[in-house]
Amino acid sequence: MSKNVVLGVSGGIACYKALDIVSRLKKKGINVYVIMTQSATEFVAPLSFQSLSQNYVVVDMFEDPKTWEVEHISLAEKADVFVIAPATANVIGKIANGIADDMLTTTVMATKAPVLIAPAMNTNMYENKIVQRNIEFLRSIGYHFVEPESGRLACGAVGKGKLAEPEKIVEYIEMLLYKEKDLTGKNILITAGPTREDIDPVRFITNRSTGKMGYAIARAARDRGANVTLITGPTNINPPSFIDIVNVYSAEDMYRAVSERFDSCDVLVMSAAVADYRPKDRSDIKIKKSDDDLKIELTRNKDILFEIKDRKTHQVVIGFAAETNDVLENAQKKIKKKNLDFIVANDVSQKDSGFGTDTNTIKIIDKFGNIKDYPNMSKDDVAHTILDLLVK
Ligand code: PMT
Repeated sequence: MSKNVVLGVSGGIACYKALDIVSRLKKKGINVYVIMTQSATEFVAPLSFQSLSQNYVVVDMFEDPKTWEVEHISLAEKADVFVIAPATANVIGKIANGIADDMLTTTVMATKAPVLIAPAMNTNMYENKIVQRNIEFLRSIGYHFVEPESGRLACGAVGKGKLAEPEKIVEYIEMLLYKEKDLTGKNILITAGPTREDIDPVRFITNRSTGKMGYAIARAARDRGANVTLITGPTNINPPSFIDIVNVYSAEDMYRAVSERFDSCDVLVMSAAVADYRPKDRSDIKIKKSDDDLKIELTRNKDILFEIKDRKTHQVVIGFAAETNDVLENAQKKIKKKNLDFIVANDVSQKDSGFGTDTNTIKIIDKFGNIKDYPNMSKDDVAHTILDLLVK
């Protein structure tokens, strides 16, 4: 069943960014109901929110109701998550002090849904002790906050107060919408993306991994309550918010990053495409072309999973196998050699599967030899499928 988000918009220049929040939520199949304060309507017309949300936008407490329901109660109950973005100092102050004098503050007072507040205001206002006290108080009674960012504000000041990026706010909403927190308290270490092996200062060897698969697993584990550390090779996509990110470059860097964190993790998921070889000698200067062919001698990198296999105590270790042929046989060899609990075999020769795609076709093999076969799914669904097995 699709989820309902009620979005409260209060009056500030960042109101226009709330349109992007609505649009992103709608793209994810989430119903959005917008409540605006009167001053928010001075910045953006309700019609814009109405067109994007495809729902009637509520502003006034006393206008003719569109249904027989008491509107603020009905929206308060409908909400799976209640978001206020942008939230002004005024709205935060009202909520913290139990004032409910318009549709937004009345509805938020009546909701039992988790409330997420994304403040946006002038730096001095944000740093004001009263505002900070209100935020601290609301946090202490379970309200969630996405901190504003620093930068040049609309008023010309430079400092903290810019509304957090819509993408980040939507990620927090998704975290709150995901109710099964079955990985709470677990430390999950995930690797993603490619590694780069330098030939000289301007050239390197790499592969086609984009990080999409590993990032999807990191997001899914975070949404299910885990403490996630994502070790990522260089990618062109934004890593998930609200997790620890460790950026690495080469296979050697990735080995060190995993090795340092392995003992304290509960689960390791190696979805990174780690280079098996690197140039034997990295040139410190750019290699000049000549009329002759150029040979680059390669040497083996450490196999990270193989290196850490004897350090396993309580950890569940999940590997991936990217195969173009003999998928099952090759994956079965790897599960044994690397002492894995599961291996996720993806046939990267198939269209819509493997490197760079938004979907993946996988088989999951466990250490007892059981094989589960799955249809082509989005990488988000693959991520949850892996975590479901892990939880079981
Ligand atoms: O990032 P995307 O574009 O979304 O693509 C996703 C993916 C195809 C990269 C991913 O789904 C995947 O299959 N990752 C593993 C790719 C791979 O390197 O497979 P492999 O068969 O070479 O390695 C087997 C396992 O050993 C993997 O878990 C790998 O992380 C690990 N390994 C490999 C080499 C090495 N030196 N050390 C390792 O630990």
